[in-house]
Amino acid sequence: MSVVGGLLGELTDVGVSASGRGYDRQSWTAADLECRQWFLQCADALDLDVETDRNGNLWAWWRPDLPGTAFVMGSHLDSVPDGGAYDGPLGVASAFTAIATLRRDDFVPTRPMAVVAFADEEGARFGVACVGSRLMVGALSSERALGLKDSDGGSLADAMTRAGQPVRHVGHDAERVARIGEFVELHIEQGHLPARDGRAGLIAADAPVGVGAGIWPHGRWRVDFPGQQNHAGTTPLAARRDPMIGLAHVVLAVRRAAQTYGALATVGKVRVVPGAVNSIPGSASLWIDARAADERAVRRVLADVRRVTGFSPTEESWTADTAFDPGLTAAVAAHLGDVPVLPSGAGHDAGVLALAGIPTTMLLVRNPTGISHAPEERADDADCEHGVAALVATIRARVR
Ligand code: GLV
Ligand code: MN
Ligand code: MN
Repeated sequence: MSVVGGLLGELTDVGVSASGRGYDRQSWTAADLECRQWFLQCADALDLDVETDRNGNLWAWWRPDLPGTAFVMGSHLDSVPDGGAYDGPLGVASAFTAIATLRRDDFVPTRPMAVVAFADEEGARFGVACVGSRLMVGALSSERALGLKDSDGGSLADAMTRAGQPVRHVGHDAERVARIGEFVELHIEQGHLPARDGRAGLIAADAPVGVGAGIWPHGRWRVDFPGQQNHAGTTPLAARRDPMIGLAHVVLAVRRAAQTYGALATVGKVRVVPGAVNSIPGSASLWIDARAADERAVRRVLADVRRVTGFSPTEESWTADTAFDPGLTAAVAAHLGDVPVLPSGAGHDAGVLALAGIPTTMLLVRNPTGISHAPEERADDADCEHGVAALVATIRARVR
C-alpha cells in the first residue's frame, strides 16, 4: 500500500478547515486528538508498543527490549490554521509505512526503533513552537509551557488535562533523551531554498528526495499596543488613542527591515480588541516571525523595528542556527545516491533534538508548488514513495 493512498489517506477527512481545502488540527483540539488516535491505530496494526510520554509525545516502539540506543523517526500531527495535508503527518505516516515495508521484507532490527509524533510542533495555538520536543530535551520549562495561553485565554495545562493527558510530570525527560541514538525526520519540502550546490530546491535539482543540512535561526516576538476604546463616529481624529496606527507602523517597519537585511519577516497574526467595525479598538497585539540564514540579520531586523517605531517587541521564542549532524547527514545523502542537501527556513522538532546534541537529520520530499502552511501544499504520490524508500534505505544502513 502506498503512503498517500494508505496511512496518510486515512487522515483525509480529519479536521478539514473552513476553506474546505486545508486542515485545522491545532494542538490538543478534537482534530488533533483524532490524529493522535490514528497514531495509536497505526502502531497497533504493526504490533508496536505504544507509549505517551510525560510531555504528550506519542511513541511506537519496535523491539524496545534490544540493547543500544534507538533509531527514531517521525514528525508531528498538529497543523497551523488552514494548513496543508503533508506538513507533519507525511513524516509520521512514512515512518509507519517504512516499518511495514521492513516487516514484510523480514528485516530484523538489531537495536530499538521508534516512531514518534511530537506534540504541538506548530505552536499555532499556544504561541511557542515545538513544545513537546522542547519540554523533552529541557529547552522549555514546565512552568512556562503549562501557563501558555491560547486566544480564548485557555492554558496549555487545561487543554492537555481536558484531552486526558496528565500534566503533573511535564518537563525534562533526560532518560528518554538518552535512549535516542539517532533521529531522522521526514518532511515535505517547504519553499525552494537553494541546495549546497546552489540549485534552488528539489524541483531545480530534479530530485524527489533531499537531505536536510540544518535550520535557519528564527524566532517569534509580540508587540502590544494600548489604546482607548471609543465610538468611531463621534471621536475626533485628534482626540483618538488608536492602537491600529502603531500596529500599522510596525507591520511596515518589519517588512522594510527584512528587505534591508536579506531576512524573512512576517506579521501573520494580529489581535484587535474588541474588533468592531464601528469602534476604535481598546488594544491590539501583533506577532512577528523573523528568520534568516544568519542570526545577525534577524537581530538587525528587530533592532530596526525598535529604532524606527519606538515599540519594543518581546521575544516569545528563539531557535539558534542549527546544523544537523554532519556525519549522519553525509552518510544518509551518500546512501541515497548523493541527493541534494538543503537548508530549511522552517522550524522542526529535528532542530530541537539537534540542538540538544542528538545526532539528527531530515529527509525532504519534493513539493511541486513550493507552498506550505496553506492548502496548496503538495507532494506527488510517487515522490512520497521515494520518501518511504529513502527512509527504508536509511534504516537498513543505520540499523544493522
Ligand atoms: C513551523 O513549521 C515553523 O517553521 O514555524
Ligand atoms: Mn509547519
Ligand atoms: Mn512540520
